[in-house]
Amino acid sequence: MSRKPPGERVSGVIIPMAQPPATIREMNHDDLGMVSDIERRSYEFPWSHGVFRDCLLAGYQCLALVREDRVAGYAILSVAAGEAHILNLCTDPDFRALGYGERLLDELLHRARSASVREIFLEVRPSNETAIGLYRKKGFHQVAARPAYYQANEGREDAAVLAKKLVVEL
Ligand SMILES: CC(C)(COP(=O)(O)OP(=O)(O)OC[C@H]1O[C@@H](n2cnc3c(N)ncnc32)[C@H](O)[C@@H]1OP(=O)(O)O)[C@@H](O)C(=O)NCCC(=O)NCCS
Repeated sequence: MSRKPPGERVSGVIIPMAQPPATIREMNHDDLGMVSDIERRSYEFPWSHGVFRDCLLAGYQCLALVREDRVAGYAILSVAAGEAHILNLCTDPDFRALGYGERLLDELLHRARSASVREIFLEVRPSNETAIGLYRKKGFHQVAARPAYYQANEGREDAAVLAKKLVVEL
């Protein structure tokens, strides 16, 4: 994947293309078709439509990042007992490297702080350098490993558990 935002080359200089505004709002049931489509194009072992529906029904914080009426990314957070867990964070492969993943993560961190969360956790495949790059940029560090956590093409893959301590927003 190119890390460069789309742009036009004029006389050897790349002029970045203006991007339409994107907003983050609560995910709803009508979004699930687009969300599942992004999920299938992003993961080798995607969540089903039903898993997203269950996240909405369970009352998890489910966010959609929307541009021009199209979902371009989403994130899901569960909060309990002063801890938060990022269950999913994904941007449409057509709209990567535009800062949307970071915006979604910033919103999750803001919501976790607002809910008086002291520490936020997530699991990630150690092979997922892109996601790990994003999490490290935002101050996460590895605190544990979960052996054979993920489905893989041959056997199972371990998960790295990353965490970040939060200062609660008053
Ligand atoms: C991980 C993911 C959400 C990043 O989304 P994105 O919208 O492309 O990321 P952003 O444009 O906001 O990038 C923010 C930061 O992420 C990191 N990053 C993004 N792409 C990267 C890459 N290809 N390599 C390394 N780091 C990368 C960088 O630190 C970047 O900051 P910078 O632009 O200042 O260098 C996206 O690649 C994705 O949806 N992947 C598939 C789903 C997934 O693996 N989710 C995580 C599960 S734990």
